[in-house]
Parts: sequence; C-alpha cells; structure tokens
Amino acid sequence: MATRVAGTDKPHAVFFPFPAQGHVKPALQLAKLLHHCHGFQVTFVHTEHNRRRLLRSRGPDALAGIPGFRFAAVPDSLPPSDVDASQDMGALLFSLETLVPHFRNLVSDLPPVTCVISDIEHILVASKEMGLPCVTLWTTSACAFMAFQQFQQLVNRGIVPLKDDDQLWNGYLDNTVLDWVPGMPKDMRLRDFPSFIRTTDPDDAILNLVLRSMAYQRTTPTAIVLNTFDKLEHEVLIAISTILPPIYAVGPLPLLLDQVSGSEADTLGSDLSKEDPACLEWLKGKRPNSVVYISFGSIATLSKEQVVEFAWGLANSKQEFLWVIRKDQVGNDASDGPAAVLLPPQFLEETNKRGYLTNWCPQEEVLQHEAIGAFLTHCGWNSMLESISAGVPMLCWPFGADEHTNSRYACSEWRVGMEIGSDVKRDEVESAIREVMEGDKGKEMRRMAMEWKEKATLAALPCGSSWISLEKVIGEVLTAPL
Ligand code: UDX
Repeated sequence: MATRVAGTDKPHAVFFPFPAQGHVKPALQLAKLLHHCHGFQVTFVHTEHNRRRLLRSRGPDALAGIPGFRFAAVPDSLPPSDVDASQDMGALLFSLETLVPHFRNLVSDLPPVTCVISDIEHILVASKEMGLPCVTLWTTSACAFMAFQQFQQLVNRGIVPLKDDDQLWNGYLDNTVLDWVPGMPKDMRLRDFPSFIRTTDPDDAILNLVLRSMAYQRTTPTAIVLNTFDKLEHEVLIAISTILPPIYAVGPLPLLLDQVSGSEADTLGSDLSKEDPACLEWLKGKRPNSVVYISFGSIATLSKEQVVEFAWGLANSKQEFLWVIRKDQVGNDASDGPAAVLLPPQFLEETNKRGYLTNWCPQEEVLQHEAIGAFLTHCGWNSMLESISAGVPMLCWPFGADEHTNSRYACSEWRVGMEIGSDVKRDEVESAIREVMEGDKGKEMRRMAMEWKEKATLAALPCGSSWISLEKVIGEVLTAPL
C-alpha cells in the first residue's frame, strides 16, 4: 500500500538505478526534480562499487545527502575493486539478481516508501511483490526503446539470431529493411537496431536477457518514464503508448533541472569519475564553434589502433579539440593517464599546439560552451540529448547497445549528425571533422541542432510538454493511492 512518510505528508521515493554512469546520472536528475519541485523525500541507492567510486571522485561528503534526500548503498556480488573503472558490463548484468535481498532489507529499514523508481528488472519485480508502485526510468531514447521491443518479433520472423558470420559482415545488416515497426520510418535497417541483434547464437545470453527484460517492461512497472521530449520522438512515443504501460516523456532532464538551479540539491552529484574543471579554463577565449569535443561515454572501450586513427584524423583536420579518453577506455588498464600510454609522441606535439586531453570533464558545461563546434560521440543517449540541448551537431560513431538506433535517428530523422564508419580510418575522420566544422553540410547540421535546442528548451519550461508530463506522472502514478 502506498504511504507517506510518518509524521509528514511527504511522499517517499526510492531510486535504484542500474549501476552505470549513463543510468545513475539521469536517475539523480529525476530524483532532484521530485525532491526540489514536488517535496519528495528521496532515498537514492548505489551499489557498493559505485559508492566507493563516488567517494573517490567527489570526496568524503559525496554521499552526505541533504535534508530529505539521503543516499544508501547495498553490496554487489562482483569482486571488489579499487580501480576507477566501470565494472565488467556482462558480469554486472548477470549479477543484478543478487541485489534483491539487500534491497528488501534496506526497504524494510526505511521510512514508509511511496514508490520505487528503477531500471533493474529484479528490483521492479521485488518492489511489486512488496506492494509498492514501481516505475521504470528507461534511460535510452524512445526510438531505441521501441527497437528493443521488436526483438521478439525479429526472433519470431527468423531474422535474429543471424544465420552465420557472413550475414554479420557482408551487407545483410545494411540490406535488411524492417518496414513494419510502428512509429518508425519504413526504411529502418537491421543495422539500426540495438547491437544485441548481432549474434548467430540462439542461446546468446544478452539477447535472451533483452527478450526477458522487454517482457517485464510490458507487465511489471506501473509506468515508464523516458528521458526524451515529445517533439523529438512524437511518432514513436505514440506507438509505444499503444503497447506498454503509461508512458511519460520528461526530458531532457538536465534542462528541466536548469529551471530549478540554485537549490540545495545542486550539490548532489553523480559523476563516478573525477572531473577535470581545467578544461573549461582551456576553452575560455576560444572562438565560437571552433573546438571539436570528443568523448565516447562511460562504457565503450576502443582498441589502441582505433584511438590512433581518431588521433591522426583529428590532428590532420587542423581543428582545435578537447578529447576525453577515460583511464579504462582502452582495455581495462586504469592505472595510467591516457596520453602516456596510447598516443604517438608526434600526436602529443599536435595536442600541445591545439588540443586538450583529459580523463573526464564536466560534459554538460563543455557542450554548452560557445567554443564547441561539434561533438564526436559514441551516441550514448545522455550525450546525444546534452548535445541537442546545446545545439551542437554531432559526428556519430555508435559503439554498441542502443547507440546504433540513436545514431540512425540523429543522422536521418533529426539531421543533426553524420556517421563515421565503424572501421575507423584517419582520412574519413579528418574529412568528417572538416565537413562538420567548415562545410555546407556542417552548417545545415548546426542550423538543425539549433532548432532542436529551441524545441528542447520549450519542452522543459514549466508550461512545456515534458514539465506537464512530469507533473502527470507524479499525480497519476508516483503519489496516487493504490
Ligand atoms: C550507455 C548508453 O550508451 C546509453 O545510451 C544508455 O542510455 C546508458 O548506457 P554511456 O556510455 O554512459 O551510456 O553514455 P551516455 O548515455 O552518453 O552517458 C554518459 C554520461 O557521462 C553523460 O551524461 C555525460 O555528460 C557524462 N560524461 C561523459 C561526463 O560527465 N564527462 C565525460 O568526460 C564524459
């Protein structure tokens, strides 16, 4: 039974995001909005691994909370590590069930809980069993969510798993058109679907995990909240609403949060890696639209060869650049800084002339800086929304999961992006960078990006579609009596 915290009439939301940066960040943004604008008490749950990372990146007060907003941590079953790196994604995915007993214990020790917001199926199922309204905060785009929903159909129609490696590499993904997906363009290609279709194994563990997860999404949560906005994904949002629990598009969350900046909750952060604020200093005084920003998010790992191709493409383009290379970006060696181990000495000379390398930056602020002219991105959804919100065109190098679908939409539907081939080559990188920074296509992409920025800004205003949607999910689900 949904309840209020004893002695107050305040609802109490428990957040437990999937323990990776791209999930924790939007969850914290939503939690802050509920707390600041709607008076929710919040308990925000991390795994032990991420608790340690946060303490290292943000200092001992990182998890102190503020009145009415507390942090908690539960043990995960993976080997403990003090390395500042993401956990192995495969191992993490298959360890999530072990969080459930700790979560149940935690909830039983908390003040009465009104609702649980999570994107971990096992947590949603456990919450439902405990009689708590539960809501999924799904952190990808709506188009990627719809694409995931098609996996069962792809299996039923015999398209996935692929028949053999030949299908994987020789044009089949490009040439197979799926014209039957509701709300999606009729020329979607198999390659535009999340990367987990790229398997020839019927028992592929991740493929089967996605199939199960999509089945849960249809039956378990009371509502699904998406970090997107109506104008950006109208058709697909309408189509999703016909097959799933109520859908609420409440993004871009960072722009909604901007409406309430100056609150005590501003101090609560979610960066699992330590930010380098000096890169903002470096950007100061650069000409508008003159710097290429490069980052491949929090999970993608590159080969040394790929890093070197990107490096020479950048150097040969003669543009100024700010490049984030995480410590664990190449393999899992988080022990050294990037420049020392990965990049050719001649490239580092170029960097001294017109570049800045770092391990982690305050990305939203960087993208909002007038000096940034383009973003070379892996198409993670948070990154893409942040870029759209800042009016910055993108060079898209989708790496995995939902990023292929995001890239497809950015390039063909929203027309703010240009894709770089997965087999990255320095000449292609150089010409793509020149085009986006100096060419006619770049100008057109920038114009479109500015249009989307305006629409995103309007959606996030108190009378905008996302703000109204947020108020609706609060009234209709998060605080509604069961
Ligand atoms: C992945 C998927 O790609 C994404 O689509 C899915 O929704 C979550 O999992 P990730 O690789 O972390 O996410 O990418 P992204 O969604 O872009 O999130 C990265 C976040 O880290 C962004 O909010 C970005 O602002 C932040 N970031 C990145 C920094 O703050 N500093 C950096 O230097 C790099």
